[in-house]
Amino acid sequence: MAQPNGVYITRPALPPLDEVIVHLERIWETHKLTNNGPMAQALEAQLCDSLGLTHLSLTSNCTLGLIATLRALDIRGEVITTPFSFVATSNAIVMAGATPVFADIDPISLNLSPRTVAESITECTSAIVAVHSYGHPCDIEGLQAIADEHGIPLIFDAAHCFGARLHDRSLLDFGTCSVVSFHATKVFNTFEGGAVITRDPEIKNTVDRLINHGIDDEFNTPDIGLNAKMSEFHAAIGLAQLPYVADDIARRGALVARYLEALKEIQGLCPVRPMPEHLVPNNYMFPIVVDAAYPLSRDELFERLKREGIFARMYFFPLISDLPSFRDMPSAARDMLPVAVHTANRILCLPLFPDLETKAQDRIIDLLRAP
Ligand SMILES: Cc1ncc(COP(=O)(O)O)c(C=O)c1O
Repeated sequence: MAQPNGVYITRPALPPLDEVIVHLERIWETHKLTNNGPMAQALEAQLCDSLGLTHLSLTSNCTLGLIATLRALDIRGEVITTPFSFVATSNAIVMAGATPVFADIDPISLNLSPRTVAESITECTSAIVAVHSYGHPCDIEGLQAIADEHGIPLIFDAAHCFGARLHDRSLLDFGTCSVVSFHATKVFNTFEGGAVITRDPEIKNTVDRLINHGIDDEFNTPDIGLNAKMSEFHAAIGLAQLPYVADDIARRGALVARYLEALKEIQGLCPVRPMPEHLVPNNYMFPIVVDAAYPLSRDELFERLKREGIFARMYFFPLISDLPSFRDMPSAARDMLPVAVHTANRILCLPLFPDLETKAQDRIIDLLRAP
C-alpha cells in the first residue's frame, strides 16, 4: 500500500470498509446507538472468548476505564505507580480522587520495580497501579506478593497489552483488574475505546454501573458515576477489526525481527526487549535505548530522522513526575527515580505498524547505521 510522504511512529490499521458497512447497516436497522446494544454485547463476548477472559467491560477509552476501576475498588489515599508512562496513568489516579506516589522502574523491563514499590508502601497506600509498558510484562509475581502482603489491589494499566500472552494466558488476565486501550494507535483499535478486565463478577457489576452514570436500574442510582460507555459505532469498528488483528500482530513481529537483526550490528542502539520465559509478545512498539557508544545523542538522532521525514517518538519522555502537575510531589524528586530519569533521556521508539513497507524500514535502518 502506498505510504504518505513521512513515515510516522504508527499508522492505524483499518479493516476493509465494506466489512465495516455490514456492521453499520445493522445499527441503521435497529436504531440502537449506545447503552450496551447488540454490537457492544457481541464485541464483549468475542473478546472474552478469543482472549480467554472471564469478565470484560467495554469503555469509551482506557483512561475512563482506569478511573472507573479505581472508583469501583474505592481507592483513596496513596497509589504507588510508575513515572515512566503516558500521563493518563497518573491523571486517572488523581481524577479518581487518590494521590500518585512514584516509585522507580526496573532497568531491564522498564516497569515498576517490586523493590522500590515495597520501599514506598506506607499506611496510606491503598493500591498499586503498574503499567506493562510497550506490552512487556511487569514482574507480576513480585508485585502481586506485595499487594497480597498488604491486602491492597494490584491494577494493571494494560493500555499496550492487547494480544500479548504470558504462560498461555492473556496479559490482560492478571492482577485485580487490567485496563486496556483500543485507541487508534494500539494493536487493536476501535478508533477510541478500551476495556476493564477482571475475574471478579462483583467488580464487573460495579464497573458496569460506574461507566453508566452510577445507574443500577430506572429508579436506583446508588453511585456517582461517569459516562464511559462504548458506543455501538465504536463496537462495530471493533467487530470489523477483530478478524485481522492476529495477522497484524504477525506482520509487526516480522518487522521487529528485521529491526533486531539490523541492530545487532549497530553499536550504541540497544533494543528494549525483555523477553521473560513463556511470553508471546504483541510487538506493539519497538523501543530502543540510545547510549553513549552511539555517535549521536537520543535527541540528535530523533532530529536526524525527522529531517528525513521519519517520525520516531520519545516515549515515554518527559517522565510524568517531571510534568508541572506532578513535579512538586515529594515522590517526584529526580534523585529518587534514577533509572526512570536515565531511561527517559535515552529512549526512542522507532516506526512500527503492520503495513510499514520493508523499503521504508530499510531506509530507517540505513539512517541508523550511518546517521
Ligand atoms: C500507558 C497508557 N495508559 C493509558 C493510556 C490512555 O489510553 P486511552 O487513550 O485509551 O485513554 C495510554 C495511551 O496511549 C497509555 O499509553
